[in-house]
Amino acid sequence: MLTVASTDSTLIAEVARRRTFAIISHPDAGKTTLTEKLLLYAGAIELAGAVRGRKSERAVVSDWMDIERERGISVTSAAVEFDIGAHHLTLLDTPGHKDFSEDTYRTLFAVDGVVMVIDAAKGIEAQTRKLFEVCKLRKLPVLTFINKLDQPSRDPFDLLDEIERVLGIHAVPMNWPIGSGDRFRGVFDLQDSIVHFYERKGRAHEAPVQVSSAHDPRLAELLGQQPWQHLIDETSLVTGAGTVFDHQGYLDFLHTPVFFGSALSNFGLEPFLKALTELAPPPRPRMSDLGLIPPTAPHFTGFVFKIQANMNRRHRDRIAFLRVCSGVFEKDMVITNARQGAEIRASRPYRFFGGKRETIEKAYPGDVVGLVNPGQFGIGDTLYGDQPLKYPPIPRFPAEHFGIARLRDVRFKQFDDGIRQLEEEGLMQVLYPTVGRREPILGTVGPLQLEVLKARLENEYNVQCDVDSLPYKAARWVVGPADKIAAMSASTAGTRSASDRDGRPMILFESEWALEYCERNNPDIKLMAVMP
Ligand code: G4P
Repeated sequence: MLTVASTDSTLIAEVARRRTFAIISHPDAGKTTLTEKLLLYAGAIELAGAVRGRKSERAVVSDWMDIERERGISVTSAAVEFDIGAHHLTLLDTPGHKDFSEDTYRTLFAVDGVVMVIDAAKGIEAQTRKLFEVCKLRKLPVLTFINKLDQPSRDPFDLLDEIERVLGIHAVPMNWPIGSGDRFRGVFDLQDSIVHFYERKGRAHEAPVQVSSAHDPRLAELLGQQPWQHLIDETSLVTGAGTVFDHQGYLDFLHTPVFFGSALSNFGLEPFLKALTELAPPPRPRMSDLGLIPPTAPHFTGFVFKIQANMNRRHRDRIAFLRVCSGVFEKDMVITNARQGAEIRASRPYRFFGGKRETIEKAYPGDVVGLVNPGQFGIGDTLYGDQPLKYPPIPRFPAEHFGIARLRDVRFKQFDDGIRQLEEEGLMQVLYPTVGRREPILGTVGPLQLEVLKARLENEYNVQCDVDSLPYKAARWVVGPADKIAAMSASTAGTRSASDRDGRPMILFESEWALEYCERNNPDIKLMAVMP
């Protein structure tokens, strides 16, 4: 039975020590820096953090695509695994740019918790808010890191208040900043009454000092009279407000524990990592058509959350990323794709680290496995070992930007392969006009993706093409009597008939207004944003 936990002690222990999470932020808040510092700390990479950077020669490991480096944004998610103490962490990278939010959205389906990075000078920004909504939908526990305290920052109360007001979650400070910018002296750990000092110049941080409370007179010497008094006043307000951390509240999405620090100067990371391993949840049970499946169920199940073509130019293959949900995945096991019922031998399961790959023998719930995918897997596919089940599909964002791809040379096959494979990745939606030349219309969530598509077709498939933008704002699958569909399209200005790869009829709309008009006036026709 899949809904009953196994008594296999190895499986139980492996599940308990796993933490699978993603970092969300608005671009520039410091997600890449924090990622790199976490990896450095865990010993997963050796390159000193300070030389990181898109502006320097070396790119951070998870930023492996050329286009990312050129643009300084992260356009694709990669998974990184590393150990901290007894814990095994899997960090799924998420692009911060708004145009790639669908990719992030899918990634958030595959994690059990989230780290939210906020720039201390800017507070909650648009992209953070959007990604947070997805966390809310999935009730993913969120740990907050308020970054860049070494620079002039907003008042901490103000920042906490904004989290509560804008995001609608109770913000519980775990440490408290002592000053900011030029006068940043460090943080006071509110749970354990320990002062961590910030050293602006020296390489090594001064040893943390344990005190009895913020009122401990030793702090007068250590901080100076005025900063001490300020700390007493502020922490009294925090305690007076009754803000106490409650672990269950965090797991239930009622609270977010908040840590102040500075990723760039490696400050405040150790307590944050400790919290990540100690507070963040292990793999959680997942709902399926059979009910809730505990990660410790005895049979292997999982789902594909991402497909990536050309991870490595030399290999030229496509990889389906599988998140293990229950049981043990083993190399060479026979797995079934629930969508087609097709059996596949998992003979080449990989673990990825940036551009590198290594074969794995076993994977446990929470782990991400890369499977070579010559077209058998689609995003959202459920895979299982010997007990059939289905996890719910991963919802897609409807495309809002459209462009027509025009081949500039005669490499038709490469062009078609490229379009098909990038569509499988979920990078875009592909439509073919019903009338006129069968040039593919590409639909994406953001305009930048159209540029990325063009660049990837050139770089990875060696085809020269133009992607000319089109005025459409939405595309819908249409279901209803054929004559009524044709009449609707013909009679509404600002629409165009098309079909998807499998010939299902679709309509493109130049405006929300045209879409609403069609919906209102054609009750017999269903317009669907997701594939019927
Ligand atoms: P992102 O992935 O969220 O987009 O942000 P990223 O880490 O790339 O950081 C954006 C900028 O903020 C970078 O500077 C980075 O060095 C800086 N930064 C990150 N954390 C801190 C911090 O704690 N304190 C300060 N003062 N700066 C921080 P950049 O000049 O844009 O890039 P680079 O030359 O450092 O690569």
